[in-house]
Amino acid sequence: MVGSGQRVSVVTGATGGIGRWIALGLAQADQHVVLVCRDAVKGRALADWIRQHAPAASTELRLADLSSLCAAHRLGQEIAAVHPRLSVLVNNAGMFTARRTTTAEGHDIVLALNHLAPLVLTDALEEALRAGSPSRIVNVGSSTSDRARIDPDDLELVRHWGMVRAYGGSKLAMMMSTFARAQRLRGSGVVANVVHPGAVATGLVREGGAIGAAWRLMGPFLRTGQQGADTPLQVALAPAWAAATGEYVKDRAAVRPNRRALDPVLVDKVEAASRQLAARTILVDTLP
Ligand SMILES: NC(=O)c1ccc[n+]([C@@H]2O[C@H](COP(=O)([O-])OP(=O)(O)OC[C@H]3O[C@@H](n4cnc5c(N)ncnc54)[C@H](OP(=O)(O)O)[C@@H]3O)[C@@H](O)[C@H]2O)c1
Repeated sequence: MVGSGQRVSVVTGATGGIGRWIALGLAQADQHVVLVCRDAVKGRALADWIRQHAPAASTELRLADLSSLCAAHRLGQEIAAVHPRLSVLVNNAGMFTARRTTTAEGHDIVLALNHLAPLVLTDALEEALRAGSPSRIVNVGSSTSDRARIDPDDLELVRHWGMVRAYGGSKLAMMMSTFARAQRLRGSGVVANVVHPGAVATGLVREGGAIGAAWRLMGPFLRTGQQGADTPLQVALAPAWAAATGEYVKDRAAVRPNRRALDPVLVDKVEAASRQLAARTILVDTLP
């Protein structure tokens, strides 16, 4: 139950390595936290874990498989109906995979989860974020976007899919959409930024074989989930980041992103292509 005057935040991928610490940090900052998870059992365990660490925490569970854009759209509408004023949205859910998989809606799953779902969910929550301003959108990106290339005519990589290309490209597309939104929202009291959490020992790489083995071997040298949540939480909550918008943030500092994300013509093309992909899917879902 939301306390009177309490601010409301939403975090996706909250059952994961970085997301659970972001959720805890938001709860400890006295936010009512909407935990978006795809698995009810994991979600309830997460809510218990948060209460153990922060007994006064106020949370609520919302279930959605965010590889479905229709589910992301419905989730946004449901949250906005219950919480017409939001203060923070953290789009953290994400995935890496070594094999190309297509969702039931026909999208490359990496693009759908890492880029298109945050786009759709944020669109559905934008009015609530405006109504709750000053408010912040924090999109969890990745430094793999730093050298990524992108073709607005082939965002799904139908021609040349590769695991690094798909992951880095999805995070670059998400960054471009974030910068486009930041620009559109200037003066509204809603800020939007992208953060890289560092290399963090989490469940992100779920593959077996050489890739999974390499990820597990690297584990002891990577950051913990709690350390990975530090920069996202700073950008979500710290007064120093209240007015910053359209930034790419690593280790609590704004850094220069991939030059492609600063090319307005390319950003417009990627944004338009992304919206076309998303709109087509959602329209099919909403037709009578
Ligand atoms: N780890 C790193 O080194 C690193 C580096 C740069 C950026 N990142 C980014 O950080 C974010 C968090 O990742 P992580 O490292 O904490 O990985 P993680 O432990 O695998 O957590 C990913 C979270 O996303 C959720 N998720 C996955 N697929 C989903 C779906 N279809 N619908 C709804 N939720 C879904 C997972 O839920 P389940 O628990 O149900 O699987 C989990 O809560 C991601 O955006 C990732 O790209 C991570």
